[in-house]
Amino acid sequence: MCIISKDIQKAIKLLNNEELVAIPTETVYGLAGNIYSEKAIKAIFETKKRPFFNPLIVHISNIEYLETVVEEIPKKAKLLAEAFWPGPITLVLKKKSIIPDLITGGKDTVAVRIPNHPLTLQLLNQLNFPLAAPSANPFNRISPTKAEHVENYFKDDIKMVLDGGVCKSGIESTIIGFEDDEPIVYRLGSTSIEDIETVVGKVEIKNKKKANPEAPGMLARHYAPNTKMILSSKISEIIKNYETQKIGVLVFSEKIINKNIFSQIILSKKRNLPEAASNLYEALHTLDKQHLDIIIAEKFPNEGLGKSINDRLTRATKNS
Ligand code: TXA
Ligand code: MG
Repeated sequence: MCIISKDIQKAIKLLNNEELVAIPTETVYGLAGNIYSEKAIKAIFETKKRPFFNPLIVHISNIEYLETVVEEIPKKAKLLAEAFWPGPITLVLKKKSIIPDLITGGKDTVAVRIPNHPLTLQLLNQLNFPLAAPSANPFNRISPTKAEHVENYFKDDIKMVLDGGVCKSGIESTIIGFEDDEPIVYRLGSTSIEDIETVVGKVEIKNKKKANPEAPGMLARHYAPNTKMILSSKISEIIKNYETQKIGVLVFSEKIINKNIFSQIILSKKRNLPEAASNLYEALHTLDKQHLDIIIAEKFPNEGLGKSINDRLTRATKNS
């Protein structure tokens, strides 16, 4: 049976026993296991139906531990860790041999972050090992931002969701790798490029949608609802093409008036991008449950977290 509970001691017991626990973070819920347990790590891949080549993020609770898991820390990586941890930025660095190949999909780098959620920080502080945790959704589905999303996905396949309420940031961490010690953005996410650039100067973005990507979270179809979805900056016009269908609409701030809309979600009436980001996945989960023929989503301004939101919406429209 899957229980939803705030009981940290119960979570500790399960994790010490090489079982999985879904944990809250400030971005999305993660499906967590002991990084040093082969049994737990294999269970993560099996439960998510995730291919083994797609590596996992290692979650630690203090910056000092970074030296235990990575070989070198480039100067700009250190600056980013100091500026944003605990928080939604993941650093991909050269791994030490202590990190099992199963975690990294055989790569010589490992992704690491300190999540910013009080319950999960307490949990990590009481464990003798870091936690590997991909987002707690089946492969290619929308990430979970509350405990019930996780329970709906996995039912009895996991024993416990540690209930930390609704995830505040609501989209995954920004992933940064290093090439010749210079930061490269592999995945857009909850820390904006603008914020990153105030710390380390101009960064290159390689958030491409290629077949064998640096970060497989960049696969073109990802974060996807089952319902067909399209993205447009001219929703009022696009809707006319779908008048006979059951339409769901997802907009930034202003309601679209059209009698053919079956349901509509506004992400932030105040036009606040962090607020819109935090509501995004919950809105997609809600619309996806309504048996719609189509979800029409509004394109966001291409700045700050608007870039990350557009990235996720674009991937959600890919139906291949
Ligand atoms: O916000 C987040 O990052 C959440 C929470 C739970 O921390 N986690 C998350 O994990 O989004 P996941 O597994 O869904 O996405 C991790 C991404 C994957 O796209 C993976 O390919 C990439 O990180 N990644 C992991 N290790 C990597 C490595 N060594 N090199 C390049 N990319 C890596
Ligand atoms: Mg994921």
